[in-house]
Amino acid sequence: MQLPKQVMIKEVGPRDGLQNEKTHISTADKVQLVNLLGQTGLNYIEVTSFVHPKWIPQLADAVEVLQAIKRHKDITYAALVPNMRGLERALQAEVDEVSIFMSASESHNQSNINKPIEDTFPILKEVVVGAKAAKKHVRGYISTVIGCPYEGYIHPDKVLRVTEKLLEMGVTEISLGDTIGVGVPTQVEFLLEELLKRYPAEKFAMHFHDTRGTALANIIKSLEMGMTKFDSALGGLGGCPYAKGASGNVATEDVLYLFDEMGIETGIDRQKVLEAALFIEEKLGKAVASKQMAIVRNERSANQR
Ligand code: HMG
Ligand code: MG
Repeated sequence: MQLPKQVMIKEVGPRDGLQNEKTHISTADKVQLVNLLGQTGLNYIEVTSFVHPKWIPQLADAVEVLQAIKRHKDITYAALVPNMRGLERALQAEVDEVSIFMSASESHNQSNINKPIEDTFPILKEVVVGAKAAKKHVRGYISTVIGCPYEGYIHPDKVLRVTEKLLEMGVTEISLGDTIGVGVPTQVEFLLEELLKRYPAEKFAMHFHDTRGTALANIIKSLEMGMTKFDSALGGLGGCPYAKGASGNVATEDVLYLFDEMGIETGIDRQKVLEAALFIEEKLGKAVASKQMAIVRNERSANQR
């Protein structure tokens, strides 16, 4: 297998993770979480989301969180932005990078952002133009790239259609989201084959949710296909509240175990990510889903016996 020497992990836990949690996390604890992540060697953290607070109440304090975190010059602090109202708030909070998002499937786009796909393009175009005018990079997420909770399997043609539009608008990178964690390596291969016929691998990042335990297998397949950028969330937190059956992202510490042991460099200290995961686990008052955290808990209880 031809493997890259180095890959980049983009941490989405403070956003994708917390947006799906019912337990209220205080602003100070969110800030502390991002600050802990800032000490791990990560150079990209998606901090929060400027969607409508009614849709995602947990992240209603997006401005306060971004304004209070301790910034490191080599870390990009990003946030999700759905429209111009969101962009205004994100710029006020001095976000470094804007992430726009939409779906490859019509029905998830409708349930998640309340609009058909065709009507979403002009709204996002405005955001890209506004963000670029403010000298911000824009990342574009495409959700449901393999499966949709309402439509089932999604053919790569639907992903290509949205990819083309987002790249035309000027997004610098597209994150391909298996939102409900249904994908398997053969489907990832088919999707990437189609995309890579037209675009270079550097244009894409992979965003796997791990609902069915296939995320690490999909990451290996993606590596094999030349992909080097991966989204993950500490503790395996995450999920889209507007995608029935969606659960956590692949856990950052589990991805790090894989890469560390395969000799693929990330520049991230797994132990420090585990410390941040322990912190948020305590605040959420429940055991988080990652394999690495289960090992930490088992070792701790063995030591206490
Ligand atoms: P809408 O109700 O259609 O919005 O929601 P609207 O444009 O009709 O505006 C209605 C009112 O909301 C207006 O106020 C706006 O100003 C206000 P009024 O004039 O009535 O007083 N408003 C806002 N206020 C604050 N911030 C804003 C904002 N926008 C409008 N940004 C909207 C449309 C997109 C806003 C809504 O559907 C929404 O917020 N959806 C977000 C859902 C969400 O966050 N889902 C999870 C994130 S996506 C995800 O997790 C997937 C991903 O991880 C990748 C993967 O896994 O696949 C990224
Ligand atoms: Mg997601």
